[in-house]
Amino acid sequence: MEVVIVPDADAGGEIIAEAMAGLLRRKPEALLGVATGSTPLPVYRALAAKAAAGDVDVSRARICQLDEYVGLPAGHPESYRSVVLREVVEPLGLDEASFMGPDGSAGDVPAACARYERELAEAGGVDLQLLGIGTDGHIGFNEPCSSLASRTRIKTLTRQTRADNARFFGGDIDQVPHHVITQGIGTILEARHLVLLATGENKAEAVAQTVEGPLSAMVPASALQTHPHATVVVDEAAASGLKLADYFRATYEAKPHWQGL
Ligand code: PGA
Repeated sequence: MEVVIVPDADAGGEIIAEAMAGLLRRKPEALLGVATGSTPLPVYRALAAKAAAGDVDVSRARICQLDEYVGLPAGHPESYRSVVLREVVEPLGLDEASFMGPDGSAGDVPAACARYERELAEAGGVDLQLLGIGTDGHIGFNEPCSSLASRTRIKTLTRQTRADNARFFGGDIDQVPHHVITQGIGTILEARHLVLLATGENKAEAVAQTVEGPLSAMVPASALQTHPHATVVVDEAAASGLKLADYFRATYEAKPHWQGL
């Protein structure tokens, strides 16, 4: 995997937005997999700015969701569908029809998971999947000990993840759903390019285990080690646990500047 160390979150947002823009210039109808949480917001801001400036035409882009809470009423402001519509689809001026995600309010959750797998396949697969990382090493909502071959399914959140996400629910952990639908690790690995963004000191240990630790279901993000095109973008704080940080810096500096991520 390629590790890119950037000075701060905005620089990470810019470099990833430029990778997305480059993809859309080559393939205007590309399917972009987006992530929720706080970390990816600078990416969406930077991409919307590029679109507004006429640097890239995003009008044919398609957007898909990584995961979703189970049981929130449709239209709940913290459902990931609402978050992606608010943070990505609307700022890019896209139509809701260009966006797909799993149905977290379905009566039959396994059927909703299977339907989403089918929809992703019928859409031709994800071209670029943006990922955050949990403090426990999760990607999507694949918590530790998720099968590295897993498909879209229902998962139970760890208490740590629910505590991490309580800030979106008025600070009250009891409001954070226990269950989620998430693309499986096997599903995520089918995207043609994986881009993980991590910022802040609280991600340093999970990043070090992901990049330099053994491949392990205990650290679901370590599955990126098996992907032919995985990029990990980290700010200095999130990179602080990496033993090979100087090597990663030198490698990236030596890379032809036009090559992109
Ligand atoms: P965060 O979430 O970006 O809000 O830290 C990341 C994640 O849980 O995947």
